[in-house]
Amino acid sequence: MQIEHNVPLQPHNTFHIVARATTLLRVRSTEDLQALTADSAWRAAPTFVLGGGSNIVLTGDVKPLVLKIEIPGMRLVEETSRAWVVEAGAGESWHELVRWTLAQGYPGLENMALIPGTVGASPVQNIGAYGVELQDRFESLDAFDLHTGRTFTLNAAQCAFGYRDSVFKHTSAVDATSGLPAGLGLAGRAVITQVRFRLPKPWKPELSYLDLQKKTELTGITQPSAQQIFEWVCEIRRAKLPDPAVVGNAGSFFKNPTVTPEQCADIIARDPKVVHYHLADGTVKLAAGWLIDACGWRGKSIGQAGVYEKQALVLVNRGPLNGDPASGATGGEVMTLAKAIQTSVYERFGILLQPEPVVV
Ligand code: EPU
Repeated sequence: MQIEHNVPLQPHNTFHIVARATTLLRVRSTEDLQALTADSAWRAAPTFVLGGGSNIVLTGDVKPLVLKIEIPGMRLVEETSRAWVVEAGAGESWHELVRWTLAQGYPGLENMALIPGTVGASPVQNIGAYGVELQDRFESLDAFDLHTGRTFTLNAAQCAFGYRDSVFKHTSAVDATSGLPAGLGLAGRAVITQVRFRLPKPWKPELSYLDLQKKTELTGITQPSAQQIFEWVCEIRRAKLPDPAVVGNAGSFFKNPTVTPEQCADIIARDPKVVHYHLADGTVKLAAGWLIDACGWRGKSIGQAGVYEKQALVLVNRGPLNGDPASGATGGEVMTLAKAIQTSVYERFGILLQPEPVVV
């Protein structure tokens, strides 16, 4: 087991914020995690699990031991008349997995093309785009429990998926009287090592999102292949979302809020153009990007942290990626901007936006 010291994290977070890991361990297999928990010097050390760093804001150097997940592998583990089941190591790039499954002839992940990050991070926030969420294609995952040193497997119900949410985003509160963990949170405890996806047969295109409907109308292709949808999604994302390799960012910075029909009616009375979608459970989802845009934030900056010109839901690092590393946005600037946005959206609409990335 080789622990590295004072490791720069700028290349390992898509915001390209300058910070260091005091200590870092590259995890290439479950055995590396077993070695960690078997080592008395590190067994009880606080840890921070790092995947592709595409959903974090670093506000300083990271003191807990950083577990940089680099577990490889992509394979078909089962094929029946009803589905292909594909397994991938947590360290694989999500987009490369999407591309690989299509190349092998296992369609189903194409609507989630080009989402930054790793396979291991994908269940944590139940990634989703263009009408498909990870939970729609999820079979099961293997994880390692840092507290007990054991591996375990979870199905979808046990992952408690919600909108950009899962059991891995929550910590277990400790019961004040017994001192035992209460609740089901696995944050800070479970390290995802492998994820399996169920890709149903026969494949059906998912084209319900307006952006994809526009593509069918524009091209006249009404029966697109999975590869065609993959290419459309890549085109749509490239047109409205910044490429983290060029402009530092962490995707959508806030979740889309849901409100009651009464709250929505109240907002419509004041702002008839508010973008909203009625959900099956009777609530109404509002487009956070629209709310932020309506408050005049698009294109604005605080220090080197900015609001992306083409999508107000995305906060960006305006610092040069290849220039002086000290001149980019700090995590503090990003959070100051985020709080200023939250305040103005709250004052105008009475809605408190919830950040999507994890603030470290
Ligand atoms: N809008 C504006 N102004 C803006 C931004 C958006 O008026 O500055 C309006 C758009 O015109 C549109 C609506 O808001 O009518 C929604 O915008 P968009 O279609 O771009 O989707 P979104 O709700 O902002 C969500 C996900 C994205 C995902 C897309 C497509 C969340 C928080 N974000 O964005 O996921 O790619 O839908 O499915 O749910 C991510 O989570 O990091 C992410 C990029």
